[in-house]
Amino acid sequence: MPDAHPTDPLSAEEIRLAATVVVDELQPAGSVQFVAITLREPAKPAKDMLNSPSELADRCATVVLHDRADNSITEFTVSLTESRVLDSGVVAGAHAPFLVDEWEPFVDAIKADARYLEALGRRGISDVNLISIDPVPYGYWHEGDDQRRLCRATSFLRERAPGGNRHARHIEGLVCTVDLNALDVIAVDDHGVVPIPPDPGEYETEQLGPLRDDLRPLEITQPDGPSFEVDGWQVAWQKWRFRVGFNEREGLVLHALGYEDAGRLRPILHRASYTELAVTYADTSPGHWFMSFFDFGELQPGALANPLALGCDCLGLIRYFDVTLSDSRGDPYVIPNAICLHEEDAGTLWKHVDLGEGRSEVRRSRRLVISWIGTFGNYEYGFYWYLYQDGAIEAEVKLTGILQTAALAPGTQPTSGNLVAPQVNGMSHQHLFNVRLDMDLDGRDNTVEETWAEPIPLGEDNPNGTAFATCRRALLSESEAKRDVDPLSARAWEITNADVTNGLGAPVRYRLVPGENIKAMVQPDSPYGRRAAFARHHLHVTPYEADERYATGNYPYQGRGDDGLSVWTEADRSIADTDIVVWYTFGHHHAPRPEDWPVMPVASASFRLVPVGFFDRSPALDVAPPDPKHGHSCH
Ligand code: NI
Repeated sequence: MPDAHPTDPLSAEEIRLAATVVVDELQPAGSVQFVAITLREPAKPAKDMLNSPSELADRCATVVLHDRADNSITEFTVSLTESRVLDSGVVAGAHAPFLVDEWEPFVDAIKADARYLEALGRRGISDVNLISIDPVPYGYWHEGDDQRRLCRATSFLRERAPGGNRHARHIEGLVCTVDLNALDVIAVDDHGVVPIPPDPGEYETEQLGPLRDDLRPLEITQPDGPSFEVDGWQVAWQKWRFRVGFNEREGLVLHALGYEDAGRLRPILHRASYTELAVTYADTSPGHWFMSFFDFGELQPGALANPLALGCDCLGLIRYFDVTLSDSRGDPYVIPNAICLHEEDAGTLWKHVDLGEGRSEVRRSRRLVISWIGTFGNYEYGFYWYLYQDGAIEAEVKLTGILQTAALAPGTQPTSGNLVAPQVNGMSHQHLFNVRLDMDLDGRDNTVEETWAEPIPLGEDNPNGTAFATCRRALLSESEAKRDVDPLSARAWEITNADVTNGLGAPVRYRLVPGENIKAMVQPDSPYGRRAAFARHHLHVTPYEADERYATGNYPYQGRGDDGLSVWTEADRSIADTDIVVWYTFGHHHAPRPEDWPVMPVASASFRLVPVGFFDRSPALDVAPPDPKHGHSCH
């Protein structure tokens, strides 16, 4: 792929080549499986990538192999240009994530186990085809839990197969533990029979009763085509420029995101991605106490991407991107339409009416949306980035899908959740998302400042009691930058480039504006709390380090929590006026409602990055009013 840009995801040919190079060198045993074959991103160019892509030449792949025989992980760096292994090494203590390809044999092993079938029999279940089984990554709860690569399993009874809700009727108290490498069911724990909940939770169209018939069509048409241009993985829309990336570990990645301002390409983000999603359940019962996950680090989220459907997942004139990943044999496969790019009307951009003369100016806001949706077992997460005409960037997660539930005996009430259907406990839980923002605001050297408002005591400086102060201080070290949201004081964080000043003489800035957020309720000194230590604070800032990529480290599956953001930041490095990475964690508290049953309407959590003196005035002033030829007259 001589024409590939250095950040372009690997092509099918490149995945094949990388696998072949490693296989030729290693001659791996039959017990070896491929965990991932992904682009090894090049070192940062001396200048920002937006303005100096030509400095980046070599194409390399990282190939991760897992040997089921000795449970080892080996990483290879392969030069695709030279078709050879550049280096390789065993990663001590690492466990492979649960691979999509392991799901079927994992389920088959459990369904073939006599103890499991007996346990089903005690519940009056004889048709194993009606059983659906979910893997629950084992975690690390007790000393020695990392000696084998393990996964628990929980089970559900469907009303019908094929079809039928896979997650509506939990088979309470039945927990299997499987050695993933040997595919050996090492334990079938039956904590006692609880009646299966009666509601099948049907949601497929043909199973539902009469549907409402009073919705008339709402068509989005763009007769002259979309306003964006796509060239390979490069996207240009209005004044925005960025490159699209995608991989197993993070899903969608945005590279070299910048803004064209009076002929200058101004970098903002070198790279932006989600790095982790921690989900913790509050239930302590024998069938559920272990249900705390790292949905990114323990699974391969990119492999869970949905092929999206026009007019359903996205509305309007869509440009889809297919993504190519590798399976456990090292073979490439394609998820078609995995990434959706389109424009949306976003309400009013700006407006003013001159009351004296009755003159009015108003502009519609248009936003560019780039998104993907993954199915993580029972849950769907949609990950959306929005770019706006006023320079704002927004990240939003949409949560939908089916609740994790527990079954209750008739007449009993949940202790850590809510009744969402008869005999169904919608267990209380929290979702915590981590986003890594590798900033390049108008250049490489940036600093983060905290801003907040505080009252001024009545007195000489505040004679009428109405004055208040807007304050600012720089966060100079990693320990100073471990910060939490405080909406009551309007706390925000501003990425600042002190070397570049705007027309008003102030440094250029972008402000991280928190949206909905929560405090993580997991106890910090608990086993899971140590592994999820990144979620103790909403903000972290680190100096850029190429190998510091994911909040829970590279291999959190059954990890002890000795890698990741909280460990790196113990060094308390300087983050002043240097190449910085901003890590923001935001969460959604979920106390399920009956209205979340059987498929929950979308809930969302988000944050924004908005320019603060990055421009000298509103960058949205030059947006034209709606065109009268399309029937609009806004004056
Ligand atoms: Ni939830």
